[in-house]
Amino acid sequence: MNAERAPGNVKDEGNSRELLENLRVILDSIDEGIHVVDRNGVTVLYNKVAAQLDNLKEEEVVGKHILDVFPSLSRETSTLLQVLRTGQPICNREQTFTTYKGDEITTLNSTLPVRVDGRLVGAVEVSRNITLMREMAHRIVDLQVELFGRREGRRESESEGARYTFRDIVGESECILELKRKAARAAASSSSVLVYGETGTGKELFVQAIHNASPRARGPFVAQNCAAFPEGLLEGILFGTTKGGFTGAQDRPGLVELADGGSVFLDEIDSMPASLQAKLLRVLSERYVRRVGDTKVRRVDVRVMAALSRPPLEAVAQGMLREDLYYRLNVISLGIPPLRERREDIPLLTAHFVARFNAQFIMSVKGVSDEVARLFSEYDWPGNVRELEHAIEGAMHLLDGDIIMAEHLPDNLRNLARQREGGLAAESMRADAAAPRAPIEFQGDFRMAVADIESALVKKALSEADGNISRAARALGIPRQTLQYRLKRLGIDPRRLSSAR
Ligand SMILES: Nc1ncnc2c1ncn2[C@@H]1O[C@H](COP(=O)(O)OP(=O)(O)O)[C@@H](O)[C@H]1O
Ligand SMILES: [Mg+2]
Repeated sequence: MNAERAPGNVKDEGNSRELLENLRVILDSIDEGIHVVDRNGVTVLYNKVAAQLDNLKEEEVVGKHILDVFPSLSRETSTLLQVLRTGQPICNREQTFTTYKGDEITTLNSTLPVRVDGRLVGAVEVSRNITLMREMAHRIVDLQVELFGRREGRRESESEGARYTFRDIVGESECILELKRKAARAAASSSSVLVYGETGTGKELFVQAIHNASPRARGPFVAQNCAAFPEGLLEGILFGTTKGGFTGAQDRPGLVELADGGSVFLDEIDSMPASLQAKLLRVLSERYVRRVGDTKVRRVDVRVMAALSRPPLEAVAQGMLREDLYYRLNVISLGIPPLRERREDIPLLTAHFVARFNAQFIMSVKGVSDEVARLFSEYDWPGNVRELEHAIEGAMHLLDGDIIMAEHLPDNLRNLARQREGGLAAESMRADAAAPRAPIEFQGDFRMAVADIESALVKKALSEADGNISRAARALGIPRQTLQYRLKRLGIDPRRLSSAR
């Protein structure tokens, strides 16, 4: 037994060393700092990014106890030691510090316990450098300050920040007309508004139109996506910061304060951390805001409009939207249906976007072909109106005539065209392999049908040749160059047809 086990162990050791080397390459290639300690607080793994962030060398850290390497830390303040003590993870904690060069760095850290068979054997800290993100957060606020600072003495008909009005909302479907009526009534009041609908359905369009039709139209319109920043930064962006509030903080108003007299649009509200939702609720009900780290409160008069991409009650049920905030926001609610549920608006929207891009690109495109109109009316539009808008914009860049054809459309729409046109031809191809040749029937364009047959033959040969073009050409009995030319023309990528990995 022993004689048999010994060589096995040597092999195991070799394997685990190989595994460790693999792990090191992986750890050094990612953007996060990784710091792993064993149960005694001694470092076992420390990657390049972590070393950069701490301005230390790997060999100065590995094999040593944390408190020996970081004298400024204590048993209480070290998150790694804390996790070893409690066994509880510490998630997404922000930390700002000054490097020896004097740069201010902000990291977002998560510290997690490591367990093997339920036993706590160590802890790992993952740090993300979010310094650039923090600067971006400050930039957002500074730009808004600039924008609204200049506002005094310059009265324009439309609010800065909100471009769209009800006239820009295209659609004659009953649901859109009803939504426009409801939104127009909402505009007259200052009540909160909750809009929901899939991405690209026009949520922000409606929100801007409401603002511009409201008595606050001359006031600011400020929009912020709540999924774009981690909690601490988002809190600063929305509610402002005070010097001394935390390391690196400066006196800055938040967007809520900047929108005084106007409206705030909070997109993806269900991505806002619960504690910030609570703070928002307080601001809404008490009508004042306190900057992070400030003792002073400031009165604000803002209208809050919020959006999410699923039914609000579903978000409440999943714990992503606080129920109390939901009731506060849901005074007026607008549910915008996906485009596939109001297909009658597609021709109108198509004409609208063609006209808009004609003006923008100085073109005179007349419209879309019958085939494209049919494709548009059958397609699912997972990206809704935005996807339609981009499909038309893209097509107009490719166009040489004055009608948008199927060949100008993005892949997913063109594939739908191929499936429709090629359906019968491809089926008979498949039957071909085994059964005697059935008469080929096709509908529509002759050249499209031929291209489909050609494409099916080429693809079959290529996949049988494992993506090897020379072999596929031989099997088809045509020169290699001819096959290459055809692949290009048919838009086939031979690598995708190889089963080898
Ligand atoms: N009914 C509509 N009429 C005209 N343009 C629309 C309509 N709905 C959406 N759009 C356009 O589609 C794009 C996406 O709309 P947006 O309001 O940003 O969607 P969401 O906020 O729901 O993701 C924008 O360019 C917008 O102008
Ligand atoms: Mg949006």
